[in-house]
Parts: sequence; structure tokens; C-alpha cells
Amino acid sequence: MTLNIQTVITTPYEGQKPGTSGLRKKVKVFTQTNYTENFVQCILDANGAALNGSTLVVGGDGRFYCKDAAELIIRMCAANGVSKLLVGQNGILSTPAVSSLIRHNKALGGIVLTASHNPGGPDNDFGIKFNCENGGPAPDAFTNNIYQLSTAIKDYKIIKELQIDISNIGVNNYTIGGKTFVVEVIDSVANYVRHMKEIFDFAKLREYVSGKSTGKPLKMRIDSMNGVTGAYVREIFLNSLGAAENCVVHTIPLPDFGGLHPDPNLTYAKDLVETVANGDYDIGAAFDGDGDRNMIIGSKAFFVTPSDSLAVIAHYLNCIPYFQKNGIQGFARSMPTASAVDLVGKKLGKEVFEVPTGWKYFGNLMDAGRLCLCGEESFGTGSNHIREKDGIWAVLAWLSVMQHTGKSIEDILKNHWSIYGRNYFTRYDYEECELEPCNEMMSTMEKNITIASFIGKVYTRGDKSYKVKVADNFSYTDPVDKSIANKQGLRIVFEDGSRIVMRLSGTGSSGATVRLYIDSYERDNVLGKASEMLKPLIDIALEISELPKFTGRNAPTVIT
Ligand code: G1P
Ligand code: ZN
Repeated sequence: MTLNIQTVITTPYEGQKPGTSGLRKKVKVFTQTNYTENFVQCILDANGAALNGSTLVVGGDGRFYCKDAAELIIRMCAANGVSKLLVGQNGILSTPAVSSLIRHNKALGGIVLTASHNPGGPDNDFGIKFNCENGGPAPDAFTNNIYQLSTAIKDYKIIKELQIDISNIGVNNYTIGGKTFVVEVIDSVANYVRHMKEIFDFAKLREYVSGKSTGKPLKMRIDSMNGVTGAYVREIFLNSLGAAENCVVHTIPLPDFGGLHPDPNLTYAKDLVETVANGDYDIGAAFDGDGDRNMIIGSKAFFVTPSDSLAVIAHYLNCIPYFQKNGIQGFARSMPTASAVDLVGKKLGKEVFEVPTGWKYFGNLMDAGRLCLCGEESFGTGSNHIREKDGIWAVLAWLSVMQHTGKSIEDILKNHWSIYGRNYFTRYDYEECELEPCNEMMSTMEKNITIASFIGKVYTRGDKSYKVKVADNFSYTDPVDKSIANKQGLRIVFEDGSRIVMRLSGTGSSGATVRLYIDSYERDNVLGKASEMLKPLIDIALEISELPKFTGRNAPTVIT
């Protein structure tokens, strides 16, 4: 059959502006006539001449509309001069797997089909994001270009009659305008599993997990929350590490995540937390829909904050073969993340970077060889093995630390705090608020905290007093390319290093989500109850921001 390129006339849609991590909207928005087509065409166009003859990776978390979108993207890439696509079987690839594939195949980039931790299904969210040739999310300049193109788009190109079945692994060749177009449907997990085996000592971990080196099998509960990690988890933890079948749950990726909200935190991973609290597990872990986030809990559901998780991994990084081989460069965290890792960096004499929220800000530092480990308080942990955060990698890192120390998770943390002191941390989320009052709240607060007389102000609650040292709207200059990201969140830093941070989410699909972050450092009082230790600063934050007045909310939707 001759394959003809069709040019379809279209008109712009408003709001195709990628957020913290791609464009996320309701499925019903994406399935409007030409909506997805417009956005995909703008992604392709934003690559300019480099698109011609290029290789791209395509895949997503298996949520509703993922497979249809993958097939549509194949038909559009065929019409836009792309030479080769690597597509996960049935459109399935975790976000870390896409990043790994882009790097291993020296692809121009990848199109990731996910709304990450947002719920899936016909009435919920879908998302599309572009990752560049380093395997990381496209930087601001690139996504701004996509958005600009979307406001002026007049037509898109597609080959509607191109037949493709992405449920079968194999190579499909087509001839388009005299040139070959290849669609290689690949095993969704094989490359990623191979990559993990290069990084970690699987032989040692297998002896530890199976109990050969300790006398008793490790009791794990790994919860994929019906997201994309299910397939990866089975191959890695069951087949490669020899864990028992009942160590993994919810391992079938479902289009609606089985009704679960696939966000690994204490609220949405309730089943995991309750099961581990009531059982005799050594470790519990969960991931989000696309597999880049992780939550780690110890015996009896002892919670490891992501900020602490990052710091502990940093402290023990040398027990992982990848870092023995490649060395340890600097560490980094996003601005709202508690600064526990800074203390480890200081002790080890490493550079530590504070970047805005969003994984894309880590990429340049990694590419420049200045960063090897980083994380965000939002359950993101990862290294320079790829350019995305990586949930399964984080669990393998924790297993390596447990194996290396022979200690329980709780004891590892207590030991860590005794060395470095403890950053108590919490995040309050107020989801789906009205946008206007939230914008007003942020601008009022910014005005109030940036007047000169705010510095030095003292806030007292009970026997705790906090004196304001710095207050601003966080601005970041990338040390590598000198690009500037302004207005990245309101920040009040007190004399003792404690902090209040407030920002609006950039990943929600409707309304506004307010995030309030509290970070309180204690050198010696490290075994307190986090909720009690943080109460004074939370009250102060609510007073300064007047959040209840602006949002009409008296309690957050989610507390982490
Ligand atoms: C949230 C997290 C942020 C993370 C992003 C993508 O973004 O806060 O740390 O990088 O999801 O997973 P936000 O909704 O806060 O803009
Ligand atoms: Zn995610």
C-alpha cells in the first residue's frame, strides 16, 4: 500500500502550556478533535531540522488513552520525517525506562505518555511530555517554544492509513516518500532491567533478599499501585532477586489504576502503610503511575521522608558498584526539599545544589559532571544513570544500604540523625482550590514578606521563637547555561535554618493546588514526633499566608 502524508487543517487550542512536567489535562480534553494532534505536531516542530531522520522513543504508563495516543504519535512521526521509533509493547514504558532507552539508543528524544501520579481512566487525567536527547524532561526554553507553536498552529501532518499493531514485539518497516520508516516494538522491561544489573550488585542483593546470606528471607511488600512498575517489579524482585510471589502486589498495570490514586505517599498508599504496620515486614515500598516516584517505609511502617531518604543514600553511596566505578560528584535537591542532604555533602566535601521544583533542573548539572545524586521531597530520588527520577532504582539503593549495614531501616535513620541532626519535614497540600484567590494569596504574601522590615521579625509559639533571616520568591540561575528561573516559590528562612516554603503546583489539571512546606532542623532533639515538632511553624505559616481566609480551607487535603 502506498502511504500518503496528509496535511490536516486545524486551529489552536488555548492552554497547551506544559507545566512542571509536560501537558496534563483530563482525558476528555485530550480526546477533543485535533487536541492531541495539535500538541504532538508542536512537539515535533519544536525539534526543528533535527527531527529529520531521527530516532524517538514512545511509551507511557498504560493509563487510559495511552495506547491510542501511542498509535497516533506513530502515524504523525511517520509523516514528519522521523526515521525510527522505539515503542514499548502496548505503549508501555515507565518514565525511567524511557530516559534509559533514549540514552542507550542515542535517540533525539522521547514522547512520554503519562500524567504521573494523577488518577487515570476516562474521567481522569492524561499527559504528554517530551524528553530531550540527554533523556531528561525538555527545559523551559523548549517547552515555551512548544507552547508558542501551539498558539499559532494551522495544520498537522499524519499518515492515517499506516497500519500498526503495537501489541506484538518486532520490527515493522514502511516506505514513505522513498525512505524507510521503522517502528520497533520492544519489550517494555528488558533494557531497564539490564541497566539496573549494571548499576547494582544483583548477586549480593539476591543472597540478601532470598536469605542465603542472613539466614532468613527479607520480608518485603512492594506495591506497584496498578501502575506501570508492575511489569518491572516482577522481573526485578521476583525473577532476578528471588523474592517470594507475595512480596509484590498490584503488579498489573491497569488503565484506571484499579481506581487507586497512584501516588506513593502516606495518604494514597494507605493499603501499603496499614499492611506493613500490622505485619512483620522489613521494608515496604510503593511507586506512582509512571514509576519515577517512590516511598520507603521500614518495619511497622516507619516512615522515611524523601528528604531523609536522599541524605541516607548519599551517605552510603559508595556501597553501590556504579558509584565505586564512576565516582561521586555533587548532590542536589529541589528548593522545598529539606536540607538533610546538604549536611552529608558538607561532611563529604561535595558540591550541593538547590534548584527549583521539577526534575528538569538537575539535567544540566548531571551533563556537566557536577551532580550524581539528587532528590525532591515529593518522593523523587535518582542519580545520573538517567535524567529522570527513578522509583525502582531508589528501592534497589535502599536494599543495597540495608545489605551493606545489616541494619533495619529505623536503625539506619536513627544512626543518621545521631551523626547529622534531623530535619523534621512536612508538606501540606490544599488540592483543587479556586485559582483566583490563590493567586491573590501568593501575591499578597510576596508583598508582605519582601518589605525590608520583614527581615528580623520574630514569631513565637509556645517556647519556640523564630527570627526571619531571608525571605524571597526563589530565583535560580543555572550554574551551567546561566538560564534564570524566577518566581519559583515563596521562601522564609529563619535564623536556625528552619524554613517555610509556599508555592502553587505546576502539575494539576484543574484549579489550583497550594503546597506548604515546613522544614525544621534539630541538632539533638532527633527522636521527637514530627507532627508535634512542626506544629509551631505550621501555625506561623498559616498566620503569615492567611491561607484559611484566601482558600476557605481549614485543613489540607493531603499531609505528607
Ligand atoms: C510536583 C512535585 C515536584 C515534581 C513534579 C513532577 O510538582 O511537587 O517535586 O517534580 O510534581 O513529579 P508540582 O505539582 O508541585 O508543580
Ligand atoms: Zn511520576
